[in-house]
Amino acid sequence: MHPALAALGLTYPIFQAPMAGVSTPALAAAVSRAGGLGALGLGASTAEGAKAQLSEARALGARRLHANGFCHRDPARDKGQEQAWIQHFEGAFRARDAAPPEALTPPYVPLQEDDVLLAVLLEARPEVVSFHFGLPREDQLRALHRAGILTLVSVTCTEDGQAALDAGVGGLIAQGVEAGGHRSTFLGEGDEGLGTTALLARLRPLSERPLIAAGGVMTGQDLRALLNAGADAVQLGTAFLLCPEAGTARAYRARLKAHVAGLQQGAIPADPEAGTVLTAALSGRPARGLRNEITARAAYPEAPPPPPYPITYDLTKRLAALPTPDAAAAFSACWAGTGVGRLRTLPAADLVETLAREADL
Ligand SMILES: Cc1cc2nc3c(=O)[nH]c(=O)nc-3n(C[C@H](O)[C@H](O)[C@H](O)COP(=O)(O)O)c2cc1C
Repeated sequence: MHPALAALGLTYPIFQAPMAGVSTPALAAAVSRAGGLGALGLGASTAEGAKAQLSEARALGARRLHANGFCHRDPARDKGQEQAWIQHFEGAFRARDAAPPEALTPPYVPLQEDDVLLAVLLEARPEVVSFHFGLPREDQLRALHRAGILTLVSVTCTEDGQAALDAGVGGLIAQGVEAGGHRSTFLGEGDEGLGTTALLARLRPLSERPLIAAGGVMTGQDLRALLNAGADAVQLGTAFLLCPEAGTARAYRARLKAHVAGLQQGAIPADPEAGTVLTAALSGRPARGLRNEITARAAYPEAPPPPPYPITYDLTKRLAALPTPDAAAAFSACWAGTGVGRLRTLPAADLVETLAREADL
């Protein structure tokens, strides 16, 4: 194992992905207790909420923890574009006897602007802190390193990988295009959409710092192939979505189960993306998940472009929260990677043990 990962006391090079809204202290603790690295997605949390999650995970026995924050750029505001997006969805609100919002607001701020969250991280000292969508401020990165924390950044291309290494991060998470959830592209102009194995091959020669592969990993065999291709560890998100410890909402679980059954029975045509779609319609940034009424409406020929991340998310969250029986299923984001057809329903510790056995770890 890479010395920086061995120093974490991992039994297996298996990382559970931080997943804002889905990862829970119970999930992170179960994975860590089973010998992997459990994670908390704190990008959309308040500092207070983050503190509570970190201390609950520790209380549940997570001796190793990975916390994740969002480092997106502040969105450029364009009121005209935002109004056009609201108007495009007016029918969806009216059909449910609700009025559309008058304006949209970004639902959370980036870590670069949140030193209260940084202070929580410095005090709780999770062993690993990772960033999605970019890098924190230089002084924030230094403070995390001074506290002995291993820092990682998710990247989707060599340009972003090199920029992160130049900034001094402790290691990289290579996020392939198969991955469920948001793509973490930040500087890279034009997304080449590299698959996990191809991205790993591009990033491996750049440095000897830990390189963690993510995207489309559902079985120990997938995991073993990436370790053999040069990854120091592997991060899985979608594979944990149906664990009882995950915070996956009821409507999300039901949609996933129906999707998996449809794929397995051949009701969904054979498709390399397994019926998932990479879309900016839900949040304003490309992310992979299941299609829903928002992705359908965004595909109308007259649809305007979605406002930048995370402003678009405000509208999605409002639609998903409408008090009608169908709203959660019709509008909430159901992130899932291209491996979704092989999703298993297992307690997290059993999943970690199964992956380790299949990978012959
Ligand atoms: C439901 C869901 C939520 C996610 N949320 C985050 C997040 O908050 N922060 C982050 O760094 N990555 C997030 N990701 C991406 C994962 O870190 C990882 O790149 C991805 O899950 C790997 O692909 P896989 O889903 O095919 O295993 C999320 C992924 C999913 C499926």
